[in-house]
Amino acid sequence: MPPALALRQRGRVSVALLWFVVLPGCAPAAPADDSGTILPPEPLVGEVSAAASAEGASQVPGVSVAYDITSASSLTVVVTKLRPLEPVSYIPADLLTLRGVPGGDSQRMRAQAATAMARMSRDATAAGVPFRISTAYRSFGLQQYLHTREVRRLGTAEADRRVARPGHSEHQTGLAADIYDVPTNELSQSFGESAAGTWVRDNAYAYGFIVSYPDGVEAVTGYFYEPWHVRYVGEKVAGDMRNTGIETLQEYFDIEASPGYE
Ligand code: DAL
Ligand code: ZN
Repeated sequence: MPPALALRQRGRVSVALLWFVVLPGCAPAAPADDSGTILPPEPLVGEVSAAASAEGASQVPGVSVAYDITSASSLTVVVTKLRPLEPVSYIPADLLTLRGVPGGDSQRMRAQAATAMARMSRDATAAGVPFRISTAYRSFGLQQYLHTREVRRLGTAEADRRVARPGHSEHQTGLAADIYDVPTNELSQSFGESAAGTWVRDNAYAYGFIVSYPDGVEAVTGYFYEPWHVRYVGEKVAGDMRNTGIETLQEYFDIEASPGYE
């Protein structure tokens, strides 16, 4: 299946946004690598392509920005209960250890997300609200273990509200992390009321992160409130969501709600 693109029509067109207008034949000059292969123009945010197939697209005509929301390696991939990774066994190619981030020595994220996470952690610490990493990248196998463990503990229906099935988790993209301040707030909704949780909710967008599963939108995401789960989407999308008040990636890209797997 070709990558699906989401086309966003924004009311206020900024200079930065104009840079992304998808006009076949008008793309910036493409550089060549050592082997002479022509590389796509480097996107500032996400992976931009003019090979449009408009699944999940805003149908408003005019200036549009295209994001690849389907390719597993896209920084704007949308993974839900109805949109598994392709392949479900996907492993990111550019995972980096989160050295320098509290709790990050044994955790990895994709390069761009790791860099942004390090900046966010440094600034949170400087602001007096340090946070730690609980888990970041999780393989298919680890996700399977966690989901199975939760099913045994709570039953399938409740487990599915809390832990994604393998192949369906943002953690497997290498773009998501669970964070906390003190042990009693780890993987707890109380983190959302803490100073660190409040700082993250208010400031994550500036580093290209969103809180994927906000309070009160389980009918859209299929997951209960997870103030600890942040997902890298790039500064443009995160800033746009912040400015428009759109809370979920699914609503931002006009994608179907996923309250369940079927
Ligand atoms: N807790 C989130 C939904 C995950 O397992 O990816
Ligand atoms: Zn998470």
